[in-house]
Amino acid sequence: MQDSLIETGPADAQPLAEIRLNTGLSIIIPTYKEVENIPHILNRLDALRQNYNLTLEVLFMDDDSQDGSVEAVAASGFDWARMIVRTKNRGLSWAVIDGFSAAQYPILVCMDCDLSHPPEKIPQMVLGLATDQQMMVGSRYVPGASTDDDWGFMRWLNSVVATMLARPLTSVRDPMSGFFAMRKADFDRAQDLNPVGYKIALELIVKCAFGNVGEVPIHFTDRVHGESKLTLKEQLKYIQHLRRLYLYRFANAMYLAQFLVVGASGVVVNLLVLSLLQLIGLPDALCLAGGIGVSVVTNFMLNRRFTFSYARDRNIAAQFAGFVGASAIGVAVSFGVSLILRESAFEGMSYGLQLAALCGIAAGMIFNYLGNRYFVFRKTHIRK
Ligand code: GDD
Ligand code: MN
Repeated sequence: MQDSLIETGPADAQPLAEIRLNTGLSIIIPTYKEVENIPHILNRLDALRQNYNLTLEVLFMDDDSQDGSVEAVAASGFDWARMIVRTKNRGLSWAVIDGFSAAQYPILVCMDCDLSHPPEKIPQMVLGLATDQQMMVGSRYVPGASTDDDWGFMRWLNSVVATMLARPLTSVRDPMSGFFAMRKADFDRAQDLNPVGYKIALELIVKCAFGNVGEVPIHFTDRVHGESKLTLKEQLKYIQHLRRLYLYRFANAMYLAQFLVVGASGVVVNLLVLSLLQLIGLPDALCLAGGIGVSVVTNFMLNRRFTFSYARDRNIAAQFAGFVGASAIGVAVSFGVSLILRESAFEGMSYGLQLAALCGIAAGMIFNYLGNRYFVFRKTHIRK
């Protein structure tokens, strides 16, 4: 049991001693139908408590399993363990957030109930917090870590891809881990917590803007009792969660990128429509106007739906009027530049009309983005 202490070196023994004497631990365990695992994890935690003379509370945050879990906690006779039964706002991440809110001690630990996460690593994690780390993660992807052999290829691949997608948000090797420790004070300061799905550590790293996250290697054991609740549906929520986190972290870059993608689609629409009108034999000016007119409508719909989706609850008619008004300068610029180039630089060239239109589009786009970002879809109301 003392191994984890020795790994960190004798110089670190002092902070742990302080923590042992002065600091209590709140261990939060989200549960759903874990009745078989509860006695085992409590015994492991009790051994740890005695070994290190820890002051701790264990909060099982249960989503109304009704499988005898409540009785199992009571039967343990440990007065430091209790179960909180939740009936609202269900789900793993919110269970953890509620547990962190209810916790009474300055250090918070989150772990699975299924014994995948070795409680014996907790002292080392707490030790990291006692130095300068803001969060300590029980990690499967640092040297010294391992997972049970029967981790299938698909589960491994899934985990690796998920971790890579989170890379721009954090350099932590295993931000998907459900085993981590942090300070209650940092949690209380966290704002805009809005997780969906399973990745609560990643949510906290991003929303608390943690730059200093330490990792402790763990051996990740496959669960023996009960089943995993990580269904495909839960995993797909990760994509939604990632989009939220990227928007939160890279707001401006994300708006611009989405606006440009929509703009690019507008270019295609514009050229298609104007070529079609040209085919019918309409005069050039009308072809240009038609291309612009149709692409304005498709651009508006796409920007409202995706780029500036926070504003899509607002009145569509008024918003479209604003969009057209704000884009008017851009449209005029696009039309003007196209016409002038058509009659000068691109005169007599094959596809001269299309080239002129492209240049006009580029000029108009600059005006369009500024008008939309800072006028039509300005961020006055933020959707809850
Ligand atoms: N309250 C509550 N509500 N608890 C839940 C819910 C829920 O909807 N779903 C799952 N839990 C509990 C489980 O009872 C377990 O204690 C813990 O949350 C993790 O659920 P598992 O079903 O064991 O998930 P897993 O082992 O597949 O996933 C674990 O590893 C992932 C990384 O591979 C979790 O730690 C994930 O957080 C982690 O991303
Ligand atoms: Mn598990």
